[in-house]
Amino acid sequence: MTTPLPEGATTPSRARNPRFAKALDAKTQAFTASVGFDWRLLPYDVAGSIAHARMLARQGIIPTEAAERIIRGLETILEEYRAGQLLPRLEWEDVHMNVEGRLHELIGPEAGMLHTARSRNDQVVLDMHLYMKDRGQVLAGHLADLIRALLDRAEADFGIIVPGYTHLQAAQPVLLSHHWLAYVAMLERDWGRLHDWFKRVDYSPLGAGALSGTPYPTDPAWTAKTLGFQGVYANSLDAVSDRDFLIEFLAWAALVMVHLSRLGEELVLWSSHEFGYLRMDDAYSTGSSMMPQKKNPDVAELVRGKSGRVFGHLMGLLTVMKGLPLAYHSDMQEDKEAVFDVVDTLEAVLPVTAGMLRTLVVDRARLAARVGRDYSAATDLADLLVARGVPFREAHHRVGQLVAQLEREGRGWREIRDEELKQWLSPLTRQDLDRLAPEAVVGARRQPLGTAPDQVRAALETARRRWANETPTAR
Ligand code: ARG
Repeated sequence: MTTPLPEGATTPSRARNPRFAKALDAKTQAFTASVGFDWRLLPYDVAGSIAHARMLARQGIIPTEAAERIIRGLETILEEYRAGQLLPRLEWEDVHMNVEGRLHELIGPEAGMLHTARSRNDQVVLDMHLYMKDRGQVLAGHLADLIRALLDRAEADFGIIVPGYTHLQAAQPVLLSHHWLAYVAMLERDWGRLHDWFKRVDYSPLGAGALSGTPYPTDPAWTAKTLGFQGVYANSLDAVSDRDFLIEFLAWAALVMVHLSRLGEELVLWSSHEFGYLRMDDAYSTGSSMMPQKKNPDVAELVRGKSGRVFGHLMGLLTVMKGLPLAYHSDMQEDKEAVFDVVDTLEAVLPVTAGMLRTLVVDRARLAARVGRDYSAATDLADLLVARGVPFREAHHRVGQLVAQLEREGRGWREIRDEELKQWLSPLTRQDLDRLAPEAVVGARRQPLGTAPDQVRAALETARRRWANETPTAR
């Protein structure tokens, strides 16, 4: 049921605003409107408006019956929105005015009471706080699931040895589980940062009005509590112009993407023919339109590639906010597309990465044949000499010359000749060379942060206990 607008009624339509003698230029209208991208805020806008209307009635600022009709109208709007029956109208500029305009159609001029003691400036940033708290929880859930996927891999792949790299040259062998747990460590820091951020998002800006507060006897603490916030901003100018919580979110997301892009890159490399350490599940790979033999690790590539847009949005919003005098400016409307795109990106990237990890297959045979065929036990060989009293620098030099010789002839440790043993490795014997087996090299690194199986098992179990329930204590 729609109520026709009474002549001269206050409506959100720019066309009816008596301050202006002319209608807005069509291109300008499209240029200034945000309803094309802020429509997703509608449920939060309605929640904020319901709390505001209740507060206005409690404080005797508007009649209780009017507040009840406003609230029922807002609930109807939310139902229409959820049913896909409500469409954004460009002439109403943004989601806030669309809600108010529709409310006007539903309940008539009383709709105009809703905006008492409020500005779109505190309203829009309230919506963003509510939205971010909500999506932050969803992202935390996805992050926890990804961490669990890595823990599952560390469990399933326990005992497999892979080459560890520095400079992308095989350096020292490590347990594959140790490698997966390195990503767990990174993502646990991301988890901690997200929860630290939650503390700062949790303040309500409502009551700041346009910038200075409002002369009405409002109760910002009540609306904050009703909407589930732990408190109210301390300063109205800051409340309407703060976008720190969005920049922090983008910075958090950027760092998550740094981590996932490194993982993505390793999965691309490791699934290549040249490395061949693992195979992606068919459900997470695509083919080439031209080359029939190709199976491309697209998911891993896109996880890596999507870091670009996330970093870009962080830089974008920092630039929007830099140098802006207090308080609100339309520049800030630019926060939304950046933040929404990053939320959408992470909501896609995190689950797909977890799925890819859960389904990939490690080629144990290939890895077993591969490790130990390089000279990655060279440090341990030098260390054996050191244990027999050879100064480390001299040991390093001797082993280096030996490796150069072996490499030229494609020989491994086992193929060292007696005279070489005597020339470079004295006083070591052939038995000592057993300690260069990858298992021995890995097993010797027994510090709590090292790659020895006992240590990795302990690290895995500690992490498993931390993640046994949905919300481990932030580290
Ligand atoms: N659409 C605006 C935004 O996204 C809402 C606030 C507008 N406030 C104003 N005074 N023009 O930031």
